[in-house]
Amino acid sequence: MSPRGYGTNGLPPASRCGLLGNVAAMEIREVAVVGLGTMGAGIAEVFARAGIGVVAIETDPGALARGMGMLEASLTRAVSRGKLSEADKDAILGRVRPAAGFSAAATVDLAIEAVPERMEIKRQVFAELDRVCSPEAILATNTSSLSVTSIACETRDPDRVVGLHFFNPAPVMRLVEVVSTVVTADGLADGMAALVRHLGKTPVEVADRAGFVANTLLLPYLNHAVRLLETGYASREDIDTAATAGIGLPMGPLALLDLIGLDTSLSILEVLSGELGGSRYAPAALLRRLVSAGRTGRKSGEGIYRYRGAAGGAQEAGFREGNGAVGPVPSTVTLISSGRAADAELASAAAAAGVNITRNPAHASDLVVIAAAPDEKVLPTAVQVGRASQAVGLHRWGADLAEVVSTGLTGTHAAASGAALAGRLGLTAVHAPDRPGFLVGALLYPHLADAVRMVQDGYATVSDVDNAMTLGCGYPLGPFGLLDQVGGQVVLDGLQAMHGAYADPAYAPPPLLAEHVAASLSFSEGSGGSSPRASTAG
Ligand code: CAA
Repeated sequence: MSPRGYGTNGLPPASRCGLLGNVAAMEIREVAVVGLGTMGAGIAEVFARAGIGVVAIETDPGALARGMGMLEASLTRAVSRGKLSEADKDAILGRVRPAAGFSAAATVDLAIEAVPERMEIKRQVFAELDRVCSPEAILATNTSSLSVTSIACETRDPDRVVGLHFFNPAPVMRLVEVVSTVVTADGLADGMAALVRHLGKTPVEVADRAGFVANTLLLPYLNHAVRLLETGYASREDIDTAATAGIGLPMGPLALLDLIGLDTSLSILEVLSGELGGSRYAPAALLRRLVSAGRTGRKSGEGIYRYRGAAGGAQEAGFREGNGAVGPVPSTVTLISSGRAADAELASAAAAAGVNITRNPAHASDLVVIAAAPDEKVLPTAVQVGRASQAVGLHRWGADLAEVVSTGLTGTHAAASGAALAGRLGLTAVHAPDRPGFLVGALLYPHLADAVRMVQDGYATVSDVDNAMTLGCGYPLGPFGLLDQVGGQVVLDGLQAMHGAYADPAYAPPPLLAEHVAASLSFSEGSGGSSPRASTAG
């Protein structure tokens, strides 16, 4: 993918171009990375791997040692996986010069700040860099959400300041958002994009707006997952399984929050909330409580999950709780079908797995299974059948996942038995309440609506959004690819049901989605989102 703008500042670029404007990737011989936390250590590794000398600056000696430890652990892991030789590891480490003070940055061509997301800390760092770096040096911030313009304007030469936003883990994720401001020197962003390509990453040039593209989409989705957890909507493991086994994402939202850091995520949400408002961005109370308690994620050994091992190399301890019991497999099931093709498949799969199926509610059975759709309630059918305590809804997502839906009247035995039935059918089961979207839809539909709104409001194009999420967050398909796969009509119906149930404007279907569905247009082909290919909705 060639670097392009997500959008422009709408203004001509700043005029002081000279050396800064003509910077070429190969002219960057030495960089300083300021702040050696998870991101700083990862960024230092990326540069050192590309053959560029790194001064790793961390004023706290303990943090400096921990950061260097993280870098070494990452390289050791690559050696143990056969991806790197010991000699190359030594050479990479040899390019990184740890330093406890800013004066070490005097000789560098580029300084990148990766300190915590607090403006007062960033300001101090840039004041120091302004003081020690040569006038030709480029200053970059890895901020995830703070205004690059505000950071730049605190410095002596705002035109030499850009954003270089890496994604965690920096050595793995391919996207780097290159952020220019209205005062960035002409050509500097293009020069930085060339550097990013030299690092083996994909640059995308973006304007200075809160959260740029990827975080503006990702963080409200992660925040929503915390809300589902804190309100008891679903268990921690089921929420994450819904995202991985249901949507096909590389990590569940709660595990991803632990990777990013709950404190970092909270800071980003606070900025997004301040700029954009609305329930999607207002940080979940549980997120605040965990951060107050020092449970900031992998780096502290505990966040939403608990980890063993040193910061950065943390391994999930593997304790699982509240994942919903799995009971005995029912030998006879009453299947209440609504006549969809998927219901017949369910019946034949159950029969093939040795489970007796009856369709007559009056017949004795161990479990009543109501073939469910995420925009319909299970409860009315369960009550109508007359055995509500023995009834669960069952809804398939893709090839692998079954949502076992409990109404307010479903007994715990029936819920466990529903999960056991799903297991017998070779499906991964998650428990979901009888609410619109069940679990996967409740997570996914608002996320997709946010993506559509971004395009609708001229914030980014369809391909910007899909590239940001595939390259920056490892999505197998971008949000618009997912939308077309699930079906615009399905998503529209799900959003309407959620909006009807909760009256939250965040769930109101965006007009652009409704227009595409009405015209049977898909989003994923053509950057304008108006490809004439028929939607898969139905
Ligand atoms: N550091 C360095 N390398 C790492 C790593 C780390 N912390 N974690 C994993 N890797 C490497 C592994 O060594 C492995 O490399 P090879 O293929 O070369 O052997 C590769 O990544 C895959 O790792 P694993 O097999 O151990 O694990 P996985 O297949 O489950 O992948 C993952 C792990 C890459 C993290 C994957 O789960 C993923 O892509 N998750 C999504 C991460 C994401 O969304 N990041 C963006 C967060 S948002 C952000 O960062 C922006 C912000 O401002 C907040």
